[in-house]
Amino acid sequence: MTNATAIFDASVPRPLGAPHVAEAYAPANIALSKYWGKRDTALNLPTNSSLSISLGQLGTHTKVAPADTDHLSFNGRAMGGDATAAAKIWRFVDRFCGVNRPNLLIETTNTVPTAAGLASSASGFAALVSALNDAFAADLPKETQSMLARFGSGSATRSLWPGFVRWNVGERRDGTDSHARPIDANLPDFRIAVVLVDSGPKAQSSSEGMTHTVKTSPLYATWPTQAEADCDAIEALVRDGDFGSVGALAEANALAMHASMLAARPAVCYIKPASLAHLEALWAARRDGLEAYATMDAGPNVKLMFEEKSRDDIIALFPTAQIINPFA
Ligand code: PMV
Repeated sequence: MTNATAIFDASVPRPLGAPHVAEAYAPANIALSKYWGKRDTALNLPTNSSLSISLGQLGTHTKVAPADTDHLSFNGRAMGGDATAAAKIWRFVDRFCGVNRPNLLIETTNTVPTAAGLASSASGFAALVSALNDAFAADLPKETQSMLARFGSGSATRSLWPGFVRWNVGERRDGTDSHARPIDANLPDFRIAVVLVDSGPKAQSSSEGMTHTVKTSPLYATWPTQAEADCDAIEALVRDGDFGSVGALAEANALAMHASMLAARPAVCYIKPASLAHLEALWAARRDGLEAYATMDAGPNVKLMFEEKSRDDIIALFPTAQIINPFA
């Protein structure tokens, strides 16, 4: 039987040598073509490919070092082993190291402000796999690190690279071909603005939301095929440098994902009245000529896609938005 342990044991050298001190950084990312739905929950395999933009300086720094006892900290504060997030991190470390894991110090620091409304699990698991790879001199290809990061969080597959990145759905039952790769892009002026609606923890995790949508939403049936087509089309448009078409398609893809959630029984609704008000303000400005588009994930915050030339218009329309240059 193939399970997570078997995949890690087959991918990471065994036995691992003694660790040394290592540090790694991985950026957060925002999907332009969304991952929504798992075909295998144990292996965390997606039903469709997805494509994202990494967020440059916004992400996670992780240090791994040998230690006398296990110690995990997040932004300078110790994290108890039984907290859900900490348990997920140690489970990942256990899988990576295999039997007879040495005690480790793991220090993780986010440059994504906790209140920025951006997920940090993607950059967190990408930085973790990368720091473990260095600490144990495992010398894994980036694609293998991406494939393993998938077991921490699906979107983490895409945080191993800067710029535009595609996570391929893959065909193999064991999921070893379900990892990301970077895309040659031609959109240097691409920018993101995060319009914050709520920075608190979400009511329903993305994993819960997608599992429930897959199980109960009659609209989900059309999602995997449509999402795959959107991903292929956005990849081609990103390569061509066609910003307007990328933005329009990314917005349509995000709204189709939210439509599939709304049709779940009972509905999964991450959109708040303020999110909708921001979307309407954007659509009104677009009718007046502003070239900007929106995307939303498993939360109420609105992420805008625009080009550098529209920066002042975006700031005028959304004065509190956090502007991100993904290539800075
Ligand atoms: O990686 P997860 O399990 O947090 O899921 C991410 C899901 C979305 O953010 C909604 C879409 C995506 O592709 O990032």
